[in-house]
Amino acid sequence: MADANPTVHRAHWNSRLGFILAAAGSAVGLGNIWRFPYLAGENGGGAFLVLYLAIAFTLGVSVLLAELAIGRLGQRNPVGAMRALAGGPWTAAGYLGTATAFLVLSFYSVVGGWTLAYIVKSATGTLGGESAEAAKLVFGALVGGAAEPVIYHGLFMALTAAIVLRGVGGGIEAANKWLMPALFLLLVVLVLRAVTLPGAAKGLAFYLTPDFSKVTPATVVAALSQAFFSLSVGLGAMITYGSYLDRRGGNLPRSAFWITGIDCSVAVLGGLLIFSAVFAFGHDPAAGPGLTFVTLPTVFHQMPGGALFAVAFFLLLALAALTSAVSLLEVAVAYLVDERAMPRRRATLGLGLAVFFAGIPSALSLGPWSSYTLYGRGVMDLLDDLTVKVMIPLGGIVLSLFVGWILADRAAAALAGPARPLWLRAWIAMCRYVAPAAIGWVMVAGLWG
Ligand code: TRP
Repeated sequence: MADANPTVHRAHWNSRLGFILAAAGSAVGLGNIWRFPYLAGENGGGAFLVLYLAIAFTLGVSVLLAELAIGRLGQRNPVGAMRALAGGPWTAAGYLGTATAFLVLSFYSVVGGWTLAYIVKSATGTLGGESAEAAKLVFGALVGGAAEPVIYHGLFMALTAAIVLRGVGGGIEAANKWLMPALFLLLVVLVLRAVTLPGAAKGLAFYLTPDFSKVTPATVVAALSQAFFSLSVGLGAMITYGSYLDRRGGNLPRSAFWITGIDCSVAVLGGLLIFSAVFAFGHDPAAGPGLTFVTLPTVFHQMPGGALFAVAFFLLLALAALTSAVSLLEVAVAYLVDERAMPRRRATLGLGLAVFFAGIPSALSLGPWSSYTLYGRGVMDLLDDLTVKVMIPLGGIVLSLFVGWILADRAAAALAGPARPLWLRAWIAMCRYVAPAAIGWVMVAGLWG
């Protein structure tokens, strides 16, 4: 097939391993270590884990493969790829995804900033781990402040832009090649420490023994939307990373399974770490979003060598968030570079600054601007709801339908040549019917709840 635009020299990954680590770096983020454990804690532990893994390895991996296929065939950012492959109204899906990436990054970076602040607090021994109340006060003072949340958000965006500035192979791939193994190693050390704490066995039992009587429709909704968020699908981040693959190179389904496998492993390990520690010290596993920032400091405080583990943990969280933020920024940067012929440097600095300003209302929304609400939700919560509950699922539905109905033959030929093995037919059926129906149901159920 002729190249959509043969004159453009597009940057590519240096190796298949580099690509897989970068895509896994996008997937592995706050979603795995912060969000997944508290959702599992609120939804009964083991049953949620089983459900989550089942969804990730069926629906999740299918949509992930769909995005990678769009990117590799289109050799463009989401807007350009949809335009090159189909055009017409489908191009709108590319714009929707790019706008979603911008919005997600604007508040993701605020939470990323909190993790940077917590590195400083754990290094200076000011986490407030002496008691649950003190830890709550420290967290409240940080997120409820005015200067600190904005400054750390700016710092986090600067780090993100510094990596994206260096480009695909030299920046994103090179950074992930170091950060991902470091993160995995750090996580394994922390898990070993946590599971050998006296009393950890209760946490392991809660987390690893499924009680399916606890599964409700709300559990399924939570598991599915978490799987999509965690796998970084639904807004074209994986289209963008797929577009830096050689059109013929590599085994895409195998890559999709590797990325899903790494992402799920980190979530499972994150759960092992948090539940062992939380149960060992008698905390409440259903403490919600505060589980990481409020409960863990008290756990570290009571733990031998806890100060060191605290620094390591928040460093881990910040690194994971950084490699995800890089992929979100790259979606919008790739659009300006590909479609507007803007130099990468200008695109990155301009967008980095724009995202910084766009994130300021979110950074202030738990403090000085907490009185600006709609339906009782502040700016950050509203943006989170709008993107995670509406825009990402909508993107997932449209991209699945696109691959299932429009791109099916071209994608099949690219992935399997003339053969039509069972997995391929199953994947196309997933994209055509199962994924759009399941995501649509979750969207409606989620908005209802
Ligand atoms: N997957 C990341 C996490 O779990 C967040 C993220 C990065 C993301 N890129 C994305 C979510 C694209 C949706 C779409 O923290």
